[in-house]
Amino acid sequence: MILPAITPNASYEFAEDVRAGLSRSGQKELPSKYFYDGVGSALFEVISHLPEYGLTRADERVLRRYAHEIVDRLPSPVAVAELGSGSGKKTRWLLEAIARRQRTSYYPVEISRAALEMCRRELGDIDSISIVGFENEYLEGLAKAAAHRKPGQHLFVLFLGSTIGNFDRPAGIRFLSQVRRILGAGDCLLLGTDLEKPKSQLLAAYDDELGVTAAFNLNLLARINRELEGNFDLSQFLHVAKLNRAERSVEMHLLSKKRQIVRIPAAGIQVEFRKGETIWTESSHKYSAKEMFQIAEEAGFRCEAQWIDAEWPFAENLFVGK
Ligand code: AVI
Repeated sequence: MILPAITPNASYEFAEDVRAGLSRSGQKELPSKYFYDGVGSALFEVISHLPEYGLTRADERVLRRYAHEIVDRLPSPVAVAELGSGSGKKTRWLLEAIARRQRTSYYPVEISRAALEMCRRELGDIDSISIVGFENEYLEGLAKAAAHRKPGQHLFVLFLGSTIGNFDRPAGIRFLSQVRRILGAGDCLLLGTDLEKPKSQLLAAYDDELGVTAAFNLNLLARINRELEGNFDLSQFLHVAKLNRAERSVEMHLLSKKRQIVRIPAAGIQVEFRKGETIWTESSHKYSAKEMFQIAEEAGFRCEAQWIDAEWPFAENLFVGK
């Protein structure tokens, strides 16, 4: 059963983040977590089917192929928590492998109630698994899941799909350290990370021919119009994807095609854009397989095993709390 808690200040936080990000004197920015309203989540689902964007399919392939091997390395008994469960589709293979050896609880953590519902529909049929969802930010929900597990049960945390890549590197390590602090020694984290690949392949993945990623990016402005009474003219902004070699990331921006002023009454701001000025909306960091061992150590884990997709370089890394 899903037990969602209500997040009362969600729209206030959105307005605050939009105000702060667009009032900056230097590079304007909007947090990528706001991509995922109903429209944005649906667009991301389409992105995951695009020929140019192999990340999600690689993640799924590795999980499907190695679920038993991964589960064989886990302590027992174990409860499963997932940060940003999405539809829960790719979690099925892991849960089914665990269900074969024990009854367990699955705690999806999501800020979207709709995603929790979808996840319950997708996974509710697996025998021996009880689902308790937490409608929270990742760390808050994870702390609740850790408190909810039965005494003696280890926790197996899933953070899939290379969502860690949307944090900058130091923030990613800080986040993983915070996850580690909620866990006990021997608890595990399965971390999905997209690996480095050639420039042309990366740029195509974030600027597909059909324009779905462009729509996904522009939806952020449409969302501000819908929820914060903004008056962005979407036709006057352009989706841009570019490589940041120093950061080893792909950045997405929205570029203003002309000098313009946009009003966002519910955020209490009026924003001036120069022609060619951009709003930085996302960074997707890419990793080497080797550096995951170092990252694990820095966050208080040991990287015990790694499974890599052969078609689209992508790694599932099994971190164990030291
Ligand atoms: C969710 N996240 C890992 C995706 C990524 O590749 O950074 C989001 C995305 N942005 C554009 N396309 C997909």
